[in-house]
Amino acid sequence: MSRHLLVAEDLTAQEIEAVFAVTHDLQTKFEQGIREPLMPGRVLALVFEKPSLRTRVSFQTAMVHLGGSSLFLGADTGFASSRESVDDFGKVLSQYVDGIVCRTKSHDTLEALAAVSGVPVINGLSDASHPCQALADIYTLRQHVGRTQGLTLTFVGDGNNVARSLAMVSALLGMRFVLAGPAGYHFGEDFLTHVSTLVPGAEILQTTDPREAVRGAAVVYTDVWASMGQEQERSERHKVFRPYQVNAELMSLAPEAIFMHCLPAHRGEEVTSDVIDGPQSVVIQEAANRMHVQKGLIAWLLGHSSETVTKTSRR
Ligand code: CP
Ligand code: NVA
Repeated sequence: MSRHLLVAEDLTAQEIEAVFAVTHDLQTKFEQGIREPLMPGRVLALVFEKPSLRTRVSFQTAMVHLGGSSLFLGADTGFASSRESVDDFGKVLSQYVDGIVCRTKSHDTLEALAAVSGVPVINGLSDASHPCQALADIYTLRQHVGRTQGLTLTFVGDGNNVARSLAMVSALLGMRFVLAGPAGYHFGEDFLTHVSTLVPGAEILQTTDPREAVRGAAVVYTDVWASMGQEQERSERHKVFRPYQVNAELMSLAPEAIFMHCLPAHRGEEVTSDVIDGPQSVVIQEAANRMHVQKGLIAWLLGHSSETVTKTSRR
């Protein structure tokens, strides 16, 4: 049976550390001009139901750097449409390729694809989660602070797909996660119970007070107020989320924190230009790390351990 990454908790804390170790090794070599050909002849398919820059390009370039190739499959392949069933699509596609990255409108579609796929399926974003984003974010934090254990990540805004994955990775790695957002946009009890069942003692706090939430944080994070697929809620959300804008005044309460955003960002809405383009912001490095961490993930998930990477490079 294939190993999939549909949600962050499909990896254990030890496995996340293993992915980070492979990532660090490959990134160090990449920065020295060395591209490890760990995936010769391997093909990754990208099946996307929604737009993407970072996820799409970072996976595709990662495969090229690893000596493999990728196929971008957009709407014309008829995925999740009346053209054919997701079952048939997944059974057929997984015979041609070595792995599938999939971005879906509904998380159920992703689960249906994984259920029939004979090769690993990686979530490239669904309405419920964005695990690759969260892995790259926490890897970026590790690069800045040198550790993760005991740190606080404060997410200001909507308890959305990105927030859920960040909360889960934070819990797995011993971090405190604080969500500051309006009532009605917090995590549901089912998610909180799920996290505390998986990680007893996990610290996830929710508040409507962004000022209190950012004090002492190592990371202040935000994302758009209306995610892809929520466009019809845009004007209502803009009214409700206005007090949760991350601006210079809010960041002044967390002078030691780095600022993160998964991008794309809407300057003047969830974040002001002076913050996202300012000295506390690491958003460009964070986006670069999508490629590095996904390279580590592909190498690890498609069958190479950190040890294999090290051995290969010694030859
Ligand atoms: N952060 C992120 O996933 O960006 P894209 O939507 O451009 O892939
Ligand atoms: N929450 C956003 C993230 C985009 C990368 C969305 O789902 O549109």
